[in-house]
Amino acid sequence: MSSDIAITNVAKVFPLKDRAFTALQEVSLTVNASEFVAIVGPSGCGKSTLLNIVAGLEQPTSGDVRVGVKAVQGPGPDRGVIFQQFALFPWLTVRKNVEFGLRTAGVPKQERRAKAEHFIELVGLSQFADALPKTLSGGMKQRCAIARAYAVDPQILLMDEPFGALDSLTRVRLQEQLLQTWSRDQRTVMFVTHDVDEAVFLANRVVVMAADPGRIVEIVDVGLPYPRTEDVRLGPEFAALRNRVWSAVHHQKGTPS
Ligand SMILES: Nc1ncnc2c1ncn2[C@@H]1O[C@H](COP(=O)(O)OP(=O)(O)O)[C@@H](O)[C@H]1O
Ligand SMILES: [Mg+2]
Repeated sequence: MSSDIAITNVAKVFPLKDRAFTALQEVSLTVNASEFVAIVGPSGCGKSTLLNIVAGLEQPTSGDVRVGVKAVQGPGPDRGVIFQQFALFPWLTVRKNVEFGLRTAGVPKQERRAKAEHFIELVGLSQFADALPKTLSGGMKQRCAIARAYAVDPQILLMDEPFGALDSLTRVRLQEQLLQTWSRDQRTVMFVTHDVDEAVFLANRVVVMAADPGRIVEIVDVGLPYPRTEDVRLGPEFAALRNRVWSAVHHQKGTPS
């Protein structure tokens, strides 16, 4: 069973030297159980801050976040987080990195091995299972981080520009894989990206944010049916949705585009 996420009147204020900076102002959003929501917006609009608050890595200044029936008070195994720059353990091989979360969850060795194997293969790193992170390219490290998060099988995936550093072919492949695992496992996903195409291709709904103060300005329903294949990107509905999200992002007052 996956859980919904209820974000209610969340504000985040960072104290700066001479003033207070409002990174998020009155953000409210409900992500339904098993829903895939993408969050787009210009750099600095608070996407990462919002995701970190849902992850429990940062506290809101006011407002609250609930996951299922529980108020978020810190990180938890129900929420898997994938960052743009994921810090792998440099002293552990790819396989050991992927097994790490399973180990802390007490999964027995044989099952751990098999699961790690499966997810390493899914992200195309089988040949590098025994390599250390420092010998991998940035994209490979990121694929390792993705395998690690998937392996733990959290109900909720919180992804912060996870494919941003990857080449476009790998990115497309991982987008499709993500949709496949999502359709199968019915996880709730919050996916931050600055790539409008990626947001429309993946999500049930695209949440558009604006900066200074960081806030939600529009929510676009993406009615495209799943499974979504590459053909979807070429259709007129996709183009119309992309244009709509694009204008919401780029026609913001005071935002350089
Ligand atoms: N710890 C912090 N202290 C001060 N300002 C911060 C801190 N973290 C983020 N900010 C500011 O809050 C705003 C939103 O940041 P962030 O959530 O990273 O935006 P995004 O992910 O949309 O690019 C930015 O202006 C950033 O400089
Ligand atoms: Mg960010």
